[in-house]
Amino acid sequence: MARGGLVLGIETSCDETSAAVVAEGRDVLSSLVSSQVALHEKYRGVVPEIAARAHVEQLVPLVEHTLGEACVGYGDLEAIAVTGGPGLVGALLIGVTAARTLALTRGLPLVAVDHVEAHATSAALGVDPPPWPAVALVVSGGHTALYLVRGSLDVELLGQTVDDAAGEAVDKVAALLELGYPGGPHIERLARDGRADAIRFPRTWIDEPHANFSFSGLKTAVLYHVHGVGNKYGSLRHLSPSERADVAASFQAALVDVLVTKTIVTAQRLGVGNVVIGGGVAVNGALRGQLAAACAAAGGRLHLTQPQYCTDNAAMIAAQGYHLLRAGRIADLSLEPWAGLRRTGRARALQ
Ligand code: KG4
Ligand code: ZN
Repeated sequence: MARGGLVLGIETSCDETSAAVVAEGRDVLSSLVSSQVALHEKYRGVVPEIAARAHVEQLVPLVEHTLGEACVGYGDLEAIAVTGGPGLVGALLIGVTAARTLALTRGLPLVAVDHVEAHATSAALGVDPPPWPAVALVVSGGHTALYLVRGSLDVELLGQTVDDAAGEAVDKVAALLELGYPGGPHIERLARDGRADAIRFPRTWIDEPHANFSFSGLKTAVLYHVHGVGNKYGSLRHLSPSERADVAASFQAALVDVLVTKTIVTAQRLGVGNVVIGGGVAVNGALRGQLAAACAAAGGRLHLTQPQYCTDNAAMIAAQGYHLLRAGRIADLSLEPWAGLRRTGRARALQ
């Protein structure tokens, strides 16, 4: 079946190499992700040089594979969309260089997509009509922010973390508990065996009216609980398996409480009924369940992004690329990646 509005998406901002073909900014024909977890695991974090080198090796075969899976040739495409930022510059550069080359050699328009805006709008993948307007919670390893999404290209930053991202806190607590990397799935699994009310960890700014977050106090509280107060660099105190599970469950509960409460309060203050989530931490079952319950209690509606489109993926990039293309926002072939948050942001304090 011939499809229109086909965009090839390329994502290389961190440690996932991904390529996807999406029709009309909504229907995913193919989305492939090559994870580098095995390469970074032993360092308990992403090593930028290793990430960039792996993107070089993975990207071209992945693009060919995704086009094949979608039964699409370059001649069928309307544009090449690529993550322009934010992210690791060396990693972004691989995707941007590949996209620039493909656009030039295939005579296709190039579109540059903001990675965080793509997370904020990822709930619209496969959904007709899209769930806008919505308050979007983006929770990943690099970002934690609340947005007001009025439309695919009208994404307004309402507030964000002033220190650690939620996923960063999750990964650091996992490392503290000597769990694997990335920490999210390990924390979630261990938390199932623990008591969420065993330890009362801080819930920073939970009752504050603004939409900003801070997770460094929570992380330090877990550190002191595990190592003993003031013993920042000490070795892991002996914790029984059930005590470790209690730490994981109580930490997860504090994190989820803050994320859910601030999201719902923000939606209520703005009078917005729809809530969406995106980013790797949005896979977390406790977060999804608690947010669904809180939304229902507040009379709102939660639209859950499918788990494979929560973690880094090129489908969300291709979808945003389609909307940018339709709006005539074509990038120059001299496009350079950008490292920082929200090049086009319109941040405002919520008060
Ligand atoms: O969006 P993402 O794939 O990459 C970034 O853009 O950062 O998010 C990765 C983050 C990691 O911190 C990882 O530990 C976290 O998402 N994560 C989870 C879960 N799965 C992944 N956090 C909590 N629970 C999970 N099940
Ligand atoms: Zn991401």
